[in-house]
Amino acid sequence: MTADSDMLDVIFNEGRTYDAFLDKPVPESLLQEAYDLAKMAPTSANCQPMRILFLSTQEAKDRLGPALSSTNREKTVKAPVVAVIAHDLAFYENLPKLYRIPGAEKWFMGQDGLIEETAFRNGALQGAYFMLAARAVGLGVGPMSGFDNGAVDAEFFSDSSWRSNFVCNIGYGDDGAVPDRDPRLDFAEACKVL
Ligand SMILES: Cc1cc2nc3c(=O)[nH]c(=O)nc-3n(C[C@H](O)[C@H](O)[C@H](O)COP(=O)(O)O)c2cc1C
Repeated sequence: MTADSDMLDVIFNEGRTYDAFLDKPVPESLLQEAYDLAKMAPTSANCQPMRILFLSTQEAKDRLGPALSSTNREKTVKAPVVAVIAHDLAFYENLPKLYRIPGAEKWFMGQDGLIEETAFRNGALQGAYFMLAARAVGLGVGPMSGFDNGAVDAEFFSDSSWRSNFVCNIGYGDDGAVPDRDPRLDFAEACKVL
């Protein structure tokens, strides 16, 4: 089974990063659909550390505003939905439910470095899967790392083991506001085959 060319265009070839979105609300059901696709993609030991905080009201988005860089602030508080892509440092507590090898949670207990590395790596991968899934269900995304992670964590995650990684604006992308595509490295520049 392979993806058809329309699907590949939606997810990759025509999929762009959006700074601006149409004035059209995003139904929560579509966010769920995107999550339900993204959750099927692989993580180490099936640990699934990504957590997403969706900010969908103006009040919630305004709470994020002060943590954003000045170039990212206006477009983000205007986006229909903002996803804070985070990871849960207590992810390993779910391993008895999620992974077939009994006792896998013990690999992580007390291992702060391994916990952080595993949560960050797999959470970032899941964040990327989520963006591609969002495109697959017809949404546009605008990922951003230009913000103060500590400030976001203090505002939203002070009582939890979640930590922010990147934020991602979500909506129906405004194709009129997208610049020309910047070049990509080709296979010979980015890859080696031994
Ligand atoms: C992890 C990540 C962080 C990014 N941070 C920012 C940001 O802080 N501000 C911004 O305007 N764009 C940001 N971008 C958007 C990229 O510049 C954009 O995705 C890239 O230029 C490719 O654009 P295209 O998808 O339209 O080809 C970020 C993208 C990613 C994946």
